[in-house]
Amino acid sequence: MRRREKHMYVAIWFYIATFFTVTILHVVNSVEIPVNFLKSYPVYAGVQDALVQWWYGHNAVAFFLTTPYLGLMYYFLPKAAQRPVYSYRLSIVHFWAVIFIYIWAGPHHLLYTALPDWVQSLGTVFSIMLIAPSWGGMLNGLLTLRGAWDRVREDPILKFMVVAVTAYGMATFEGPVLSIKTVNALSHFTDWTIAHVHVGALGWNGLLTFGILYWLIQNLSSYLKQCFSSASPSLPDHMEGIWVSIPSFPEP
Ligand code: HEM
Ligand code: HEM
Repeated sequence: MRRREKHMYVAIWFYIATFFTVTILHVVNSVEIPVNFLKSYPVYAGVQDALVQWWYGHNAVAFFLTTPYLGLMYYFLPKAAQRPVYSYRLSIVHFWAVIFIYIWAGPHHLLYTALPDWVQSLGTVFSIMLIAPSWGGMLNGLLTLRGAWDRVREDPILKFMVVAVTAYGMATFEGPVLSIKTVNALSHFTDWTIAHVHVGALGWNGLLTFGILYWLIQNLSSYLKQCFSSASPSLPDHMEGIWVSIPSFPEP
């Protein structure tokens, strides 16, 4: 099949990865053998079950909390900063690296368990490698602000986005550190893990969400004001105007 659209913006790549992988995660994690209509048994048991569940769990971080948010970052940050993405090439390289490396990092949640040692080490090695593509994303986000940093001082939307992207960088630096066995021996049963969770989930996901919501509210309200104050004859015309222009909406 030949696709008509030659170029797909990088945000779309991240969304394809999200939907594709989330589907696979659910299917693999939920495989069961049916016994009768209402009853079935899981196929995994013991440490294999634990591994599959943390494969799912860690890739939830990757494909619920990271890839869709990188997609949002690549769409909304350039819009809010009114600058092109710093490096398109970097975005593609770190996209493939992120999805390839994340998939193997799950065992870092099972350090010092019955999981074979080599699998634990594999998880640690991939976790440490994960710094590179993660920071590729962070740097691409922050460098997109080149020439717009003066506006970060004034603009609350950009402030939210900058802190979010920085928190992403910090969480993805801290994560690899926590995956080192000697560090994990100290951190595992403490609130350090909880702190790490929230640098990612609250700092990166939460603040980016609010930056985007503010951007949407601001643009939507000014767009609607513009529509309704123009000299067109009736409300239905206005409504039609909005629907017709949605595909190209909202241009900065
Ligand atoms: C390079 C990227 C990352 C690596 C290598 C990494 C690594 C780790 C490690 C080693 C732990 C501790 C496991 C334990 O002791 O039980 C952990 C926990 C966790 N991380 Fe990350 N992390 C990364 C990025 C992130 C990001 C960006 C988020 C959120 C958006 C996140 C969310 C979590 C959560 C929710 C837990 C706690 C899981 C639980 O409930 O036990 N991580 N991570
Ligand atoms: C102001 C906002 C928030 C507050 C006050 C808060 C508070 C908490 C508290 C008290 C815990 C339990 C800690 C413990 O077991 O010692 C927790 C755990 C957790 N929170 Fe939040 N949270 C917030 C935002 C978020 C957001 C936005 C997310 C996800 C996007 C999130 C994801 C999680 C996760 C995954 C855990 C479980 C961590 C683990 O057990 O390893 N939190 N949070």
